[in-house]
Amino acid sequence: MPYHEQHLQSLKDKGLFCGDAFIGGRWISKDKKFDVYEPSSGSVLGKVSDCSLDDFKQAIRSAEEAQRSFYQSTTGTARGALLRKWNDLILENADDLAVILSLENGKTFGEAKGEVIYAASFISWFAEEATRAYGATIPSSTPHTTLMTIREPVGVCGIITPWNFPAAMITRKVGPALAAGCSVVIKPPSETPYSTIALTKLAVRAGLPPSIIEVCPTKDRQAATELATNPLVKKLSFTGSTGVGKMLANLATGTLKKVSLELGGNAPFIVFDDANLDLAVESAMFCKFRCTGQTCVCANRLYVQKGVAKAFTERLVEAVQALKMGPGLDSATTQGPLVNKSAVEKVKEHVEDAFSKGAKIEIGGQPSRSTGFFYDPTVLSEVTPNMIVSREETFGPLAPIFQFETEAEVLQLANDSEFGLAGYFFSQDIARAMRLAQKLECGMVGVNTGKISAAEAPFGGIKESGYGKEGSLYGLAEYQNIKSITIGNQDTGS
Ligand code: SIN
Repeated sequence: MPYHEQHLQSLKDKGLFCGDAFIGGRWISKDKKFDVYEPSSGSVLGKVSDCSLDDFKQAIRSAEEAQRSFYQSTTGTARGALLRKWNDLILENADDLAVILSLENGKTFGEAKGEVIYAASFISWFAEEATRAYGATIPSSTPHTTLMTIREPVGVCGIITPWNFPAAMITRKVGPALAAGCSVVIKPPSETPYSTIALTKLAVRAGLPPSIIEVCPTKDRQAATELATNPLVKKLSFTGSTGVGKMLANLATGTLKKVSLELGGNAPFIVFDDANLDLAVESAMFCKFRCTGQTCVCANRLYVQKGVAKAFTERLVEAVQALKMGPGLDSATTQGPLVNKSAVEKVKEHVEDAFSKGAKIEIGGQPSRSTGFFYDPTVLSEVTPNMIVSREETFGPLAPIFQFETEAEVLQLANDSEFGLAGYFFSQDIARAMRLAQKLECGMVGVNTGKISAAEAPFGGIKESGYGKEGSLYGLAEYQNIKSITIGNQDTGS
């Protein structure tokens, strides 16, 4: 029996693996379908309904009709309770969700289950935040006048998410949208739509009213344009490439929608001579090789100060040597495949370019295994700024090591990028920690850690990595409008 069928058989709730669209509160199997692939073999995992532009228009209308009564008939507390139920169902079904996620994305079962728990944490976080949509009272400059603000949901939200976190990127957007009282129309990634559909099944079981959540899988690129231009959509939240993000932001200006963009990164990971080297290597392994290097926040450029460059490189190579590549659901696997063939090609291009310009391959450096989308985890040394890896996000298991001498030099190198999502550095010097954390041009900084993502931490970038914050105490506001109410002439009542 093929690998994926064997694991699909093991699902406790087989109904969670489903390729239907969810429009107007009904599960719909379209005649037209597209293939979804299992990345460790490259074979077809299943066929998913391919929604048309008319389906999107219908989903948007239905979400618009349902949203107002959803907001008006529920309190923040009630929406919080609903989200809490959804969170509980996600956690109860975590093993099944992790199997589905691993099969479509390729990440290991451990990582997939970690992602499911991470995904649930956004739902439980925003279950709490739903009750905290505070307004303000503001002392008015006009006598006998009360000035106050309330927060209202923006309305229908278009949600477009990537394949690298098929569950968490959905909940990080849908959680706050529902908490605020919005409805959502989701275009899941065509590489990994099954996790979105499974999560939606659980949302429906949790009691989410029909039409508040709409899921339209599709291969049609015009669908994103529809979400960005349809006047009934009041907010667009997109995670993906900077190129597509810019295009969608341009399109959204036509109706002046609110927009949040979480786009590409090119994170510097800096190791100073005074760093705890064990911690720096362990963190580099997590930060670089999590999800086989396919995260926007992963270390893309490793800058190591001259005094520890040799020791750091040796230890990193040793740790990479211990990685076991294979299908995500094999228990021995610690590094899964890449998502598809073009992801493998991109890593190959970056390695070949660096090698041709003088970089040294310390380990890896080639695509591996005869089937599926694998590339050997790779460490390059003697990397220089004229190589593609210094400018472009690789989105794969490639750790390029640059050497530097001074803090000023590395700061200049680190900030020399149009991206500004995440940055990391390792040093025991508290003054340097404070100095550099402020001077790094990025939205998120990790000091002596490679783990910066959590439901309570504001997630988002600056420069061409986008705008808007997800998660945290700021995430809810992205789905709300502030309305000011002025009650004047309070002295004239009879
Ligand atoms: C991403 O980098 O795409 C998201 C990763 C995260 O939330 O940690």
